[in-house]
Amino acid sequence: MTFHSMWAELRPIGRSSASGGYRRFAWTGADTDCRDWFRQQAESRGLTYELDRNGNQWAWLGDPAEGDAVVTGSHLDSVPDGGAFDGPLGVVSSFAALDELRARGVRFTKPLAIVNFGDEEGARFGLACVGSRLAAGQLTVEQAHRLTDADGITLPQAMERAGYDPAAIGPDPERLGRIGAFVELHVEQGRALDLSGDQVGIASAIWPHGRWRFDFRGEANHAGTTRLVDRHDPMLPYAETVLAARREARLAGAVATFGKIAVEPNGVNAIPSLVRGWLDSRAADQATLDTVVDGVERAAREYAEAQGVELDVVRESFTPVVEFEHALRDELARILGKDRDAALNVPVLGTGAGHDAGILSGTVPTAMLFVRNPTGVSHSPAEHATEDDCVAGVTALADVLEGLACR
Ligand code: GLV
Ligand code: MN
Ligand code: MN
Repeated sequence: MTFHSMWAELRPIGRSSASGGYRRFAWTGADTDCRDWFRQQAESRGLTYELDRNGNQWAWLGDPAEGDAVVTGSHLDSVPDGGAFDGPLGVVSSFAALDELRARGVRFTKPLAIVNFGDEEGARFGLACVGSRLAAGQLTVEQAHRLTDADGITLPQAMERAGYDPAAIGPDPERLGRIGAFVELHVEQGRALDLSGDQVGIASAIWPHGRWRFDFRGEANHAGTTRLVDRHDPMLPYAETVLAARREARLAGAVATFGKIAVEPNGVNAIPSLVRGWLDSRAADQATLDTVVDGVERAAREYAEAQGVELDVVRESFTPVVEFEHALRDELARILGKDRDAALNVPVLGTGAGHDAGILSGTVPTAMLFVRNPTGVSHSPAEHATEDDCVAGVTALADVLEGLACR
């Protein structure tokens, strides 16, 4: 099956006809359809299919028990109205790269696996990379049990409804211990490759990033009869806090976004009792990120107090800076630079986006390849990569896998 036909098969799954974006949320019907597709791809290639205790899917060529395996893959879930490429490009490219290696007639000296990590985006339960975090022991079972979606359904309930056993979740050091190298291919979520004129790049680092929930609690009241001076309207400090986040991020050279909000009672003619906003902030280093988030929280407290509104701030998730292992990164650069005038001249890029590769990097040697995105747009239906660049990504991934698993 070609890259093109795999892409065409996945394209309709979880796609909203209204927005053209994807709604492939963890443990929903669209997620199940993506998982069925992964399993079919594995089985049609004679790979050994495995579902791990945390709902991550694996397709093995060779015996995992031998260890020092080379693993590639990404995720198939999406953000609300996400693009087609963030995640699926890495999974589809992995199967296509394996097909290319088989066509080349290479002999594998190490086991190889393709993985689909569950719930990478955290769109439903608010925490990103749940599948890889659980496996790596970066999310405890107790914390996972407390994750709840917007309808009050807990993660274990959602898993059970989708036919999975939530009792099994937890750290999986044995499975991760089989991996000698993990390489995730991903669409670039910026324009560095477009600007440098390269189809493929290598990741250097992932910025530290996190999500903070700001709960502004005021007093519900009538929008028509309550004098302005008598109000405790949480929307006001929330709005001022959004502007403060922009200001703090600009001053620090970081990014800060309030992209999700919940309002109670959410009536046009009612002053809200609660405004809950989620801050996503990222910076090149930890100290800068701390400065931004501390600054936003300080401003939010002042604004809330001025309106007689209560404020709670909870850090819901955090991922420290990831510096990908230099030896593996240089090995990728050597493999991909071999046909060029000078080795090591494949662009090496940092990114502000989170990935399962970042989570695994604390446990196993990990690297990433990026495929050019001509507009840089991501987490949007407009996300794009040309088929030519995707195919160049498949060839690069095949070269890397051949270099790592056939030596
Ligand atoms: C995931 O894509 C993230 O960076 O939030
Ligand atoms: Mn994403
Ligand atoms: Mn992704």
